[in-house]
Amino acid sequence: MSRSAHPAGPRHADVLPEGHYTAPADDLNALDPKVWAHTVGRDADGVVTVGGIAVTQLAEEYGTPAYILDEADFRDRARAWRTAFGTDADVFYAGKAFLSRAVVRWLDEEGLNLDVCSGGELATALAAGMPAERIAFHGNNKSPEEIERAVRAGVGRIVLDSFQEIVRVAHTAESLGKRQRVQIRVTVGVEAHTHEFIATAHEDQKFGIPLADGQAAEAVRRALQLDGLDVIGIHSHIGSQIFDMSGFEVAAHRVVGLLKDVRDEHGVELAEIDLGGGLGIAYTSDDDPREPHEIAKALNEIVTRECEGARLRTPRISVEPGRAIVGPTAFTLYEVGTVKPLEGLRTYVSVDGGMSDNIRTALYDAEYSVALASRTSDAEPMLVRVVGKHCESGDIVVKDAFLPGDLAPGDLIAVPATGAYCRSMASNYNHAMRPPVVAVRDGAARVIVRRETEEDLLRLDVG
Ligand code: LLP
Repeated sequence: MSRSAHPAGPRHADVLPEGHYTAPADDLNALDPKVWAHTVGRDADGVVTVGGIAVTQLAEEYGTPAYILDEADFRDRARAWRTAFGTDADVFYAGKAFLSRAVVRWLDEEGLNLDVCSGGELATALAAGMPAERIAFHGNNKSPEEIERAVRAGVGRIVLDSFQEIVRVAHTAESLGKRQRVQIRVTVGVEAHTHEFIATAHEDQKFGIPLADGQAAEAVRRALQLDGLDVIGIHSHIGSQIFDMSGFEVAAHRVVGLLKDVRDEHGVELAEIDLGGGLGIAYTSDDDPREPHEIAKALNEIVTRECEGARLRTPRISVEPGRAIVGPTAFTLYEVGTVKPLEGLRTYVSVDGGMSDNIRTALYDAEYSVALASRTSDAEPMLVRVVGKHCESGDIVVKDAFLPGDLAPGDLIAVPATGAYCRSMASNYNHAMRPPVVAVRDGAARVIVRRETEEDLLRLDVG
C-alpha cells in the first residue's frame, strides 16, 4: 500500500524522509508472524498474548519495561537448527546474543552446543551445567585467567584469534599437562552486506588472522608445532544480520583452500570447519530470512563441492547462530508515558525504557516494528517515533513506524524481535535499572533474569 493511501494517519506524510519507514500495514492490529514469536496472538479482547498469557497480566505482575521471551519458540528454533544440521554437524548457540542459566539448560536439553566469548559467559555456561566439552571459547583478547579457566574446565575448543594467543593457549595447556583442542579464526576478505560494526570478515578489522597474505597459513604452521595444541580446524565468521548466502560461499571456498594448503604442506587434513553465525532475522515485514534447513542445505552443498574440488575429505561443519535462534523469540513490553505530536513532522511516543534496554537503533541504525499490545484500535495510523526516557536525543527505540492515532498514555506497546543483543547489550545509562527477562510457556510465566533494583545499583557504588 502506498503512503498516499493513508492521508489522514501519517498527518506528516509529505515531509517523510525517503526510505526511512515502511508504509503502514493494512491492519495495524495484525501481528506479522515473521517478526513475532510463534505463540503470540491476540485474545478475544484484542490484548496481545504470548504462551497463552495476556501482556496486560504480564505487565501487572512483572512491570514494564520487560523482555518477554517465548520459551516454546526458543526451543522450536533451537531444535530446527539442530535437526537441519543433523548429527554430522554441530550447532553452537552464540551466547553473546542472550545468555542466562535457563537458556543454557534449554540448549543442553535440545542438543545444542554453546559458544561463549568471555569469562562471564563461560562462568554462566558452567554454572548452568553445560558440559565443558560442548563449549567453544571465542574472543580476540582472552585474558590469561580466562584461558586458564577454559583449559582447566576442559572446553571443547578454543578459537585462536592471534599469534600471541596461539602461544598463550599452548603454554597454558602444557603447564596444566593438557592438550587443548583449538580452531584458528581466519578473515577471508569477504565484504558482508551488513552494518560496518557487525561485519567481521573484511581484512581491516580486529578479529581473526588474514588468509590473504599467508598469515593464516603461518598460524597453522606454528600451532601444529606446539605440543599443547590439538589443531582441529579453521574458523570463519563473516558478520551478522546477513541474508545473502554468497558471502558464506566465498568464505567456504577460501577456508577449504587453506585446508588444501595445509594438507599439501603438512600432510594433515584438518577435521572441522566452523562457518560462524550471522544469519539474519526479520525485524520488520520487509525482511525475508531463510529457514535453518535451507541454510544447512546450502552450507553442506558448498563445503562438499569445494572439498570434492580440492580432493579433501569433507570436514565436520559447525555453525554458531545466535540472533537467528533467540532474536525472534522475545519482545520488549513498554508502557506509553507521553504522546507528543509535532506538527508537520511526526508524533513522539515516549516509553518507560529506551536505549538502555535496546541500544541497537542508536548504534546500528537498526529498524524495528511496534504494535499496540494492550488493545486493538481502528483509529487511523499515525507516523510515530518511539523514544525512551534517557537524556539523549538519539535515545530512539523505533525510528519510524505507524501506531493507531488514538494511542494514549497508559497503553502498552510491544517491540518484537528483541531477543538478541538487547538484554545482552543493556546498560545502566542514567542509572536505569535493566529490565527482567520473563519466560512464558504453556500459560505459565517465570522470571529468568530479574529486574535490577536500586539496591543492585548502590551495591556497586561503595561510597
Ligand atoms: N560467532 C561469532 C564468532 C560471532 O562473533 C558472532 C557474533 C556469532 C557467532 C553470532 O552471530 P549472530 O548469529 O548472532 O548474528 N551486537 C550486534 C551483533 C554483534 C555480533 C557479534 N558476533 C547486533 O546487535 O547486531
